[in-house]
Amino acid sequence: MADFRKRFPVLSEKIYLNSCSQGALSQDVEEGMLEYLRSWHQHGSPWDLWVDQYEAGRRHFAELINAEPEEVALVASASAGVNAFASALSFKQRNKVVLGEFEFPTMGHIWLAQRPRGADVTFVGAEKNRIAVEAYDRLVDRNTLVVPLTHMCFMNGFRSPVAEITKIAHDRGAMVLLDDYQDSGTRPIDVKAMQVDAYVSGTLKYLLGPPGLAFMYVRKSIAESLVPTVTGWFGQRNPFAFDVKLFDPAPGTRRFESGTPPIPTIYGAIAGVKLLQQYGLQNVADQIRSLTNALIRGASELGIQMKTPLDSVGPLVVLQSKDADGLVRLFAEDGVVCSSRHDGLRISFHAYNTLDDVKFVLRLLQQNLKMLVTAPAETVAGSAS
Ligand SMILES: Cc1ncc(COP(=O)(O)O)c(C=O)c1O
Repeated sequence: MADFRKRFPVLSEKIYLNSCSQGALSQDVEEGMLEYLRSWHQHGSPWDLWVDQYEAGRRHFAELINAEPEEVALVASASAGVNAFASALSFKQRNKVVLGEFEFPTMGHIWLAQRPRGADVTFVGAEKNRIAVEAYDRLVDRNTLVVPLTHMCFMNGFRSPVAEITKIAHDRGAMVLLDDYQDSGTRPIDVKAMQVDAYVSGTLKYLLGPPGLAFMYVRKSIAESLVPTVTGWFGQRNPFAFDVKLFDPAPGTRRFESGTPPIPTIYGAIAGVKLLQQYGLQNVADQIRSLTNALIRGASELGIQMKTPLDSVGPLVVLQSKDADGLVRLFAEDGVVCSSRHDGLRISFHAYNTLDDVKFVLRLLQQNLKMLVTAPAETVAGSAS
């Protein structure tokens, strides 16, 4: 653990609790990006080497989520991947898109943009800080084409019951597209075991990489039945055929790619994934669980209202605040990096955080209790599993 922490120089200066926004920079990722610069200096334009690296990235992401490499597309953002996927769907036979109001906004934007193409977008409403499985059960029907589903809500840390919602969707013939951006890198992932049809995540948060890269899995049998209209030369069977008159989508999921891959980011992102795999994703999950439990226990003792439902904790714990932006600024004065969304103070943990970090934050919370929403202990207390 101490060795792992040492690889993140920022941790000697800051208590870093903002992996939900951007993972901390490790020496490994820095070295990966320097390797890219060196290759550029040394060789000028080593595109064969860079294309090899791009394929290595595909293999690393595939291994991370237990997919086949040909089931993974490398894209510039989660939005780019979902747009390509959405562009390939026909809304003629089924036209409903059912998504929760805890999705990241880009999901709403992309699916709402499909309305002129025939999509009927229905939002599943939340009650307080959760969305009930029963609400999906009521809205997903035989006219539903796809259920885009966030694994973990960026605003309040609510974890969606993926297996139950996937079963409801599949029983009615609908696909599930899991957005794992707020959770991947914090625990072992197996898209096959989860049985989702498509999956998207990006590199810059808990995967510890730089921005500019995301990856998308689409189950092979589905991918090859779809032809994206948001496309480009890297989505073709042979990008290097340079044939302007031929539209020939690549086999497998690579057909959802479009333009030149972000090579510098790929170098950095591979280093981030390797670092996590060396540490062990189960070890990451165990460490995060002990930290979130300690924070929740301590915040409960202080009577702080939690936005994160206690039975759905993951890496992100969100506390209800009367001035979340003000708290972020105050915490920054004490060297603590965290973030806010609306009335929530977001504290997110990764394997590089420690119980000392939690103790420090609890002390700051206690000192600034008037900026938090508090309630009698029995309504907030309870220990998370
Ligand atoms: C859950 C979730 N999905 C999607 C995104 C956005 O992804 P991108 O900017 O790569 O499209 C974010 C970014 O914070 C996110 O938290």
